[in-house]
Amino acid sequence: MKNKLEENNFIEVERVTKNYQDPYSGVYFQALNGVDLRIKQGTLSSIVGPSGAGKSTLLNILGGMIKPSTGKVTIDGLPIQSLTQADLNNYRRHICGFLWQESERNLMSGLSVEQNILYAMRISGYPREKRKMRIETLLKSFGIWERRHHKVNQISGGEAARASLSVALANEPKLLLADEPTGELDSETTLEIIDYLKKINQEEGITIVVVTHDKRFENSTDRSYNILDGTLAGMRKTINADENRDWRTVKREEVVVVNSLGQIQIPQLLRDRFNIKNFAKLIIDEENNRMYLESADEE
Ligand SMILES: Nc1ncnc2c1ncn2[C@@H]1O[C@H](COP(=O)(O)OP(=O)(O)O)[C@@H](O)[C@H]1O
Ligand SMILES: [Mg+2]
Repeated sequence: MKNKLEENNFIEVERVTKNYQDPYSGVYFQALNGVDLRIKQGTLSSIVGPSGAGKSTLLNILGGMIKPSTGKVTIDGLPIQSLTQADLNNYRRHICGFLWQESERNLMSGLSVEQNILYAMRISGYPREKRKMRIETLLKSFGIWERRHHKVNQISGGEAARASLSVALANEPKLLLADEPTGELDSETTLEIIDYLKKINQEEGITIVVVTHDKRFENSTDRSYNILDGTLAGMRKTINADENRDWRTVKREEVVVVNSLGQIQIPQLLRDRFNIKNFAKLIIDEENNRMYLESADEE
C-alpha cells in the first residue's frame, strides 16, 4: 500500500550520492553529495546549475541509466535504484521519456521525422492503433506536421529540437526528463522550446524535469532548484500561479533547501552581508513564533 508521502510526491530523492572513480588514479570523486528532492505529479521543474554541478548525473539517476552510490529514488512508487534490468526497461518504455543533451542521441539522421517517432513507438511497444493519432497530435502541437516526411538532416535546429521532443513523448510517458534541451539553440528558439514544454505540461499533465545551465528556466518553471557542487542549495517557486498563467510575469520567491540532515546553505551574498563565516545563532522569537539567524563568529 502506498503511504501518504508517495501519493503526494511523484518523485522522491532521498540523500542520494554518486561517486565516480577515476580509472587512472583510482581516486573517487563525489559528483552528488546528498541530494534530497521531492517533485509532485504534473509539475514542471528545472534544476539549474553550472557545468560540472552534477545535473546530468542526477537526471541519469532519475532515468535509471546509472545507479546512485547511496540513497533512495522513488518514482511513481517504484524503487528506481533497486529495480532489475527488466523492470528498468519497462520503466523506460512506459513511464519515463528522456530527452538527451546530445541531439544525435535523440534522432537518427537517415530517417524522417515521422519514422523517428514510429521507431521510438515500436521500441516501447506503444499500441499500434494509437500510433497515427499520437504522431499527428505531437507534430501538430509542436508546429512541425508539415515537416513529417523530411529527413532530420533537412530541417532547422529549432525544428530538430521539436522533433526530438516528439520522439521523447512518443509513448505518452508520465514523466519527461530533459538534459539541456536548449543547449544548442539560439535565444529565440530557446524561449519557444520553453513555451512548448509548458504547453505539453499543461495539456497532457506530464511531469517534466529539465536540467540546464540556462538561467531563463528559473523564471519559467513552477519550481526551480539551484544545483552547485553536487548539492541542491536553493529553490525558486511561483507564488501567484493561480491568478497568472503567463510565466513571463508570474511572481516568484526564493527559498533555501533544507536537506534531510537539517542542513541549509546560506547564499554567499547573504553570508558576506551579515558577516556569517563559521558559526550562526538561531534566535527564537516565541511571541511571533519565528526564528532568526545571526552571526555567531568571534570577532
Ligand atoms: N562517468 C564519469 N566518470 C567520472 N567522472 C564523471 C563521470 N560523469 C561525470 N563525471 C564528473 O562528475 C561531475 C558532474 O558531472 P555531470 O553530472 O555531467 O555535470 P553537469 O551535467 O552538471 O555538467 C563532473 O565533475 C564530471 O567531470
Ligand atoms: Mg550535463
